[in-house]
Amino acid sequence: MEVIILPTASEASEVAARLVARQLREKPNSVLGLATGSTPSRLYQLLARMHREDGLDFSKATTFNLDEYVNLDPNHPASYHQFMEENFFSHVNVRRESVHIPDGMVADVRAHCASYERAIREAGGIDLQILGLGSDGHLGFNEPGSSLASRTRIKTLTERTRTDNARFFTGAQEVPHHVITMGLGTIMESRMCLLLAFGKAKAEAVAASVEGPVTASVPGSLLQFHPQAKVLLDAESASSLTRAEYYRGVYQNKPSWQTDL
Ligand code: GLP
Repeated sequence: MEVIILPTASEASEVAARLVARQLREKPNSVLGLATGSTPSRLYQLLARMHREDGLDFSKATTFNLDEYVNLDPNHPASYHQFMEENFFSHVNVRRESVHIPDGMVADVRAHCASYERAIREAGGIDLQILGLGSDGHLGFNEPGSSLASRTRIKTLTERTRTDNARFFTGAQEVPHHVITMGLGTIMESRMCLLLAFGKAKAEAVAASVEGPVTASVPGSLLQFHPQAKVLLDAESASSLTRAEYYRGVYQNKPSWQTDL
């Protein structure tokens, strides 16, 4: 796990954007795993700018989103279909037929989840997975207690997550109880994971994920087992880490052959 702490969320998002851009330039037909929420929105703005100004090309890329609400119309302003359209897809040249987001409106959820897993496999697996972190340590919508080997499936949200996400809806009551999410086992098969977490509200979840024991009670901690996980933080989300100064020193003193960002 490489922990990169920058003073602000904007600076950390710039590092994330450079990593995604490098991935795409090295492998134009990359399979990207995408996340929603307020955390990656700056990253999406930066990627859109790189597309506009530097010609960063998404035309050969395939994307898989982590999750979606069950029984929420994809046209609803809080759906992740809408979020992705507004924040990313409408600003870059990714082909719509290469975009995959779990469909929360399907009648047969189980069959849909199995075909989502199959589609990821058939695309060659995810090269780079972007992740946010819930204040309770969730990844995607894998709430605490999720099996560490889980695959794409239906999950029930905790009240804490429903409250956290109420800001995207007209009220807490409107937040669905059920979601479809890639599993932790699915996420762990990605070749690289980029976890972004910003702000004071994430500090405890970050500390538990990065420095706590690996446990299903903190899904983010599973990334300690990932061979290529980078954790991008701002000063506030890093404020409960006991080794923050060490991580800063490592990043500032990287050997020149590693400082390609
Ligand atoms: C949501 C999403 C996660 C996201 C997390 C943090 O519930 N399902 O993928 O990482 O919560 O959200 P935010 O970035 O808005 O804090």
